[in-house]
Amino acid sequence: FEKVNGFPSNFLWGGATAANQIEGAYLSNGKGLTTIDLLPTGPKRSHFSKGNLSSFNPEANQFYPSHGAIDFYHRYKEDITLFAEMGFKSFRMSISWARIFPNGDDAVPNEAGLQFYDNVFDELLKYDIEPIVTICHFDIPVNLAENYGGWKNRETICFYEKYAKTLFNRYKNKVKYWMTFNEINMLFHLPYIGAGIVFEEGENREQTLYQAAHHEMVASALAVKACHEIIPNSMIGCMLAAGNVYPYTANPKDYWEVMKMERDSYFLIDVQCKGEYPGYAKRFFNENDIHLNINSDDLVLLKNHTVDYVGFSYYSSRCTSADPDILNNLTDGNVFASVINPYLETSEWGWSIDPLGLRITCNQLHDRYNKPLFIVENGLGAQDTLLDNDIVKDDYRIDYLDRHIAEVAEAIKDGVEIIGYTSWGPIDLISNGTGEMKKRYGYIYVDRNNDGSGTLRRIRKDSFYWYKEIIAQNGAKY
Ligand code: BG6
Repeated sequence: FEKVNGFPSNFLWGGATAANQIEGAYLSNGKGLTTIDLLPTGPKRSHFSKGNLSSFNPEANQFYPSHGAIDFYHRYKEDITLFAEMGFKSFRMSISWARIFPNGDDAVPNEAGLQFYDNVFDELLKYDIEPIVTICHFDIPVNLAENYGGWKNRETICFYEKYAKTLFNRYKNKVKYWMTFNEINMLFHLPYIGAGIVFEEGENREQTLYQAAHHEMVASALAVKACHEIIPNSMIGCMLAAGNVYPYTANPKDYWEVMKMERDSYFLIDVQCKGEYPGYAKRFFNENDIHLNINSDDLVLLKNHTVDYVGFSYYSSRCTSADPDILNNLTDGNVFASVINPYLETSEWGWSIDPLGLRITCNQLHDRYNKPLFIVENGLGAQDTLLDNDIVKDDYRIDYLDRHIAEVAEAIKDGVEIIGYTSWGPIDLISNGTGEMKKRYGYIYVDRNNDGSGTLRRIRKDSFYWYKEIIAQNGAKY
C-alpha cells in the first residue's frame, strides 16, 4: 500500500469565526436584532442561552458584547490582509441572518446586508482565500423567536429556506463550501441563541426540543437540495460540536453511559449523514412519550439530501460514569459538563486538553460516516498579556495548537480524509459562552477589554508567526 505522507497539497488551512462574535455594527444598514444581541455578559448570559428568558430586560445596565464585537464590519479589509499575511487558504465565517432578512419573515432581502458579504468575499478571493460559510451560527432574528417561537414552529423552515436560497443565488460564484447550522447538537443545550426557543411554564422541554430539531433537520435537507441545484460542485456540510467520550472505569455500565452521551451528540448528525432517524432515537421517542409531527414528504427529503461532509469543532474530550458520586465531580467544557479526567490537564476555563482525543474523534467520525471531515474549530481560550513593543508571548497557545495539529496529521495517516483545519478565532473575538473578551483564541490580539473599552488595534502575537510557518510548510514538520 502507498504510504500517506501528511497533509494534501490542497489542504484548507485557515481560521474560523462567527458573525455575532466579530462584526459588531449590530443595527447598521438595516440589520435587525438577533437572539444573541439580547445576551449580556455575566451569569445571565448562560441562563438566557438555555431558554429561560422570564426576567429578561435588555435596558437594565448590561453590557451586550455582540453590539460592537471587534468591529470586523468596518475593519474586515485590515483583518483579511493579516489573514493573507499568515498564508490562509480558507476563512470560515457566518452570515448574520438578520443582516439579510432583518425580521426573518421580510418579503425581500436587505441589499445593504447582501452587499456587505459581497465585499468580504471579494476581499478574501483577492488573496485566494476560500470562504467557508455557515448559514446560521447561533443567531436568529428576534422577530422569529418572539412572534413565531423560533424553531418550535414549522413555518421557520420556510423562512430559513428562503434565506439559504437567497445566499446561494447571490454568492454562487464566490462561495463553494457551506454549512447549514453551527454545532447543531447545541440545540439541546443552548436552545435560545441558535433556535430562538423560550420555554413556557410547565412546557415539556424534551418534546419541544426534538420537534425543533426535526424542523432544523428538514430545513438542513432543503438547504442541501437547493445548494446542489443552484451551485454545481458545491460542498455543503453539517456541523457537530464533537469530542470523544471516555468511560471513567472499565465497568461496562460506564461504557454504556459513554454510548448514550455520544449518541446525544451524534443523533442529529446521523440524520444529516445517513438520511434517517437511527433506531436508538426511535426507541427513545417511544419510551419517553415524545411524538414528532413529521410530514409525509419530510422523510423522503431527509433520505435524498444528505450532507457532503462533516464539519466539526473539537476543543476537549469528555468523560462519564454510571456512578452518581463520580458524576458530582464535573468540569466545564464547551457547554457539555464532563467528569474530571484524571489523566488530562485543563485550560484556565476548565476545558480538558486532549490532543490524542482529536485523532480519536477524527477516526470515530470517519468510521461512522465515511464522509470527508472538516475540522472547522479547535483552539485554546486563554488570557494574554500585551507587553511593551506590542509583543504577546502566547507559547501556551502554540503548544496547544502544535500538539493538536500533530494529531490531525496522524489521523490523515490513519486514512481519514480531512478537507481542512480552521482554528477557532484566528483574531481575538467575543467568547460565545461567557461573552468575555479576555478569553482569547487569536493569532492576532485585539485591544479590547471585557467592558468594551480599548482602541480595537490589531497586534500580531508570537503564534501569528508560528502558524504562518506551519501553513507555509503545509504542515511538513508533522
Ligand atoms: C463553539 C462555538 O461552541 O465554541 C463558537 O461554535 C464558540 O461560537 C467556541 O465561540 C468557543 O467557545 P467559547 O465559549 O470559548 O467562546
